[in-house]
Amino acid sequence: MCGIVGAVSRHNIVPVLIEGLKRLEYRGYDSCGVAVHQRGGLRRARSTERVAELEINVAAEQVEGSTGIAHTRWATHGAPAVHNAHPHFSSGPAGADAGGASDGVAAVGRVALVHNGIIENHDELRDELRRLGYRFDSQTDTEVIAHLVDHLYDGDLLSAVQRAVQRLRGAYAIAVFCRDEPQRVIGARAGSPLILGIGTGERLGDHYLASDAMALAGVTDQIVYLEEGDVVDLRLDSVAISAKDGAKDSAGADGHFHAVQRHVRTVQAHSGAAELGPYRHYMQKEIFEQPKAIADTLDAVQGISPALFGEGAAKVFGQVDSVLILACGTSYYSGSVAKYWLESIAKIPTSVEVASEYRYRDSVPNPRTLVVTITQSGETADTLAAVKHASALGMPHTLTVCNVATSAMVRECALSYITRAGIEIGVASTKAFSTQLVGLFLLTLTLAKTRGYLSAEQEAEHLKALRHLPVAVQSVLALEPQVMAWAEQFADKENALFLGRGLHYPIALEGALKLKEISYIHAEAYPAGELKHGPLALVTAEMPVVTVAPNDALLEKLKSNLQEVRARGGELFVFADADTRIESGEGLHVIRMPEHYGALSPILHVVPLQLLAYHTACARGTDVDKPRNLAKSVTVE
Ligand code: M6R
Repeated sequence: MCGIVGAVSRHNIVPVLIEGLKRLEYRGYDSCGVAVHQRGGLRRARSTERVAELEINVAAEQVEGSTGIAHTRWATHGAPAVHNAHPHFSSGPAGADAGGASDGVAAVGRVALVHNGIIENHDELRDELRRLGYRFDSQTDTEVIAHLVDHLYDGDLLSAVQRAVQRLRGAYAIAVFCRDEPQRVIGARAGSPLILGIGTGERLGDHYLASDAMALAGVTDQIVYLEEGDVVDLRLDSVAISAKDGAKDSAGADGHFHAVQRHVRTVQAHSGAAELGPYRHYMQKEIFEQPKAIADTLDAVQGISPALFGEGAAKVFGQVDSVLILACGTSYYSGSVAKYWLESIAKIPTSVEVASEYRYRDSVPNPRTLVVTITQSGETADTLAAVKHASALGMPHTLTVCNVATSAMVRECALSYITRAGIEIGVASTKAFSTQLVGLFLLTLTLAKTRGYLSAEQEAEHLKALRHLPVAVQSVLALEPQVMAWAEQFADKENALFLGRGLHYPIALEGALKLKEISYIHAEAYPAGELKHGPLALVTAEMPVVTVAPNDALLEKLKSNLQEVRARGGELFVFADADTRIESGEGLHVIRMPEHYGALSPILHVVPLQLLAYHTACARGTDVDKPRNLAKSVTVE
């Protein structure tokens, strides 16, 4: 999704801006751009190609400057086109050429601005600014902010931005600079993340802005996570943060900003994590990193104790009588697996909700609910809004299972379990999913123990199985050649069905999501018992039916469901446990899963589905790590 980098420096800042954009590329984008203060004016280059092309362009055009901002855009308002790419310029109401649709280097404008998020009242503001004489060259909501700042500018950019943000509804992180105030960049955030980087050593006195600390890896590790409503004033040798006190007045335009202090943290931002090594794609690398990611996630676990989830967890776990899980996409599916564990092992009523739905529906709050969010990035706007909604409804007990310790979600929730998957670059989530399941299994065991449903023997047995998981996953990864052979058969299909039952139904859902998002094959998942209630009508020889078949209590039922498919000429691809006695035959392909421990079976069964999606996508020649229309971190609603 969109990424921001900005800086005020003693040196030419363009290489830092371009390198920052490259580090944010993994989030997904469709255009990019950079603007600097150069020879008393604004200069800009934008492109709908990759950042590497932008880099060539700025070098050829000698775009250089010590103050600048840069952006990767993931289109929301307006198509992915150069004239919609950021930075956006405003050159006043009479500006004859504030934007320009050229992908070359433009040199006109007074205010330059980049933006992440969505401005909900952009139509209203655009009408107002048009009446004031501003001309719009893009379809974006962002250009509205650039003109608004320009309109409010009276010689002090900070004051203009402070007044402008009070007119905005929606989510934003912005970075702005002005032709008339060299060596000054203003940043502001509400609803979208923005960090401040403080230069040290050779870069002492330099100040940086970014939407993610990763963008500044190798530049500085001194980071301030700006808080909701913060406005930051970056200059050479000084930086000041302000926040508004009090509510808006009836006109909606007041608010006094006062200086605030924010904590500076030392953040090691994985500068070497982006190496592909021997792998063809990050997704493949991340699938194969799962044994290590799981081992790292379990590293600090000595035994089952509330302390795993932070200070105060013991008291909270003793008070709660239900669990509400809020998440999106793959994280929602890990929550769906956890529901089975929590209800069967910890005997605690659990519901799982898609975060974007929960936040807008009427629900009945129970203050004794443990609200659990699951998120790889910790920045997913829908999940963040959902947990805030739950808190506002009077459910104060919040816990997150999250892969980014410094994320907004970890700061939002009272308790946390940090998975140690390491940075995940592929848009399709893999190692984050399996490590989330590890965290959620630990939560299940902890609640079970707190509630008196876990004996010492059971605890020891579960812990032993958890410690064996990395080895078990490694042996599933060895199935890759067999899965590749299947992928060849999937490559020319346009539809696929995935079946599972019980604990493995969410795994079927996850397998279908993986296949559709990276291979663009339409895939749907069903609990196998639902087949006869509708989807069976779709089954023909052209519809591969992928089935997860563990040796569990539902096995015989599942076998009957498979018969229903075979009887209609459907072709089955079954990942079967050793002792299921499901054998390959006419129209029935079987890959035998290595032996494993029952309760953790979902963590193993998802791995071949990840590999199947990956190799099918490779066979179809899609952009595996950056599938069309998708972004890694979904920071807009
Ligand atoms: O960062 P999060 O876990 O909150 O992200 C949630 C979803 O956007 C994410 O899992 C998405 O569904 C992935 N692309 C799936 O592979």
